[in-house]
Amino acid sequence: MSTSDHEAFWSARYRDAGDDYLFGTAPNQFLAAQESSFGAGMTVLSVADGEGRNSVRLAEQGCTVTATEISAVALQKAARLAHGRHVAVDFVQADILDWQWPVEAFDAAVAIFIQFVGPDDRDRLFRKLQAAVRPGGRIFLQGYTPKQLELRTGGPAAVDNLYTAEMLRTAFAGWQIEHLREHEDSIAEGRAHVGRSALIDLIARKPA
Ligand SMILES: C[S@@+](CC[C@H](N)C(=O)[O-])C[C@H]1O[C@@H](n2cnc3c(N)ncnc32)[C@H](O)[C@@H]1O
Repeated sequence: MSTSDHEAFWSARYRDAGDDYLFGTAPNQFLAAQESSFGAGMTVLSVADGEGRNSVRLAEQGCTVTATEISAVALQKAARLAHGRHVAVDFVQADILDWQWPVEAFDAAVAIFIQFVGPDDRDRLFRKLQAAVRPGGRIFLQGYTPKQLELRTGGPAAVDNLYTAEMLRTAFAGWQIEHLREHEDSIAEGRAHVGRSALIDLIARKPA
């Protein structure tokens, strides 16, 4: 699919939700649990940020946040959320597979449910994400594992897009893996991610 096809696909999903937020307005549960890792003065990149629930929370914590997202409709909702919560986020409309990524520009990068790519694009995407973080900075990532295909409570249908612990260990070789956990939990994140879910969380620190 081309960038405009991806944009149209995701914008249609967000438009169909009307005034609702497809993934809710509360931050992702895993990210919310990492609250003590974020604070005033930090620069944070939130990629494929959707309707802003994660970037807005990070901005409320005092971080200077850049959020990329392909969907114009998601970005409109994100801007509304930020305005209503009285915070500023630098929202950037971008296809992150074709974006001039800043290099070593952020103290942290956040990648929550960005499993819209298969193995080739994922390798490329992870390399860009890793390069965007300064030495000593961290990446916070959550996605689904292949077990999710049995649970069907959200996420992509393509097994190749899902993460395993081994895959993430390989992708983050040379980084300090501070946290890597596969788990089943019930989540309620908007109408799109609801119920028992097979999740994997990663916190990795770039070598200083
Ligand atoms: C499952 S949603 C997760 C959104 C957000 N991270 C969250 O947790 O609420 C995946 C998001 O990726 C965005 N997306 C898909 N392809 C993209 C691309 N090539 N570049 C940037 N964003 C993309 C979609 O528009 C959608 O907002």
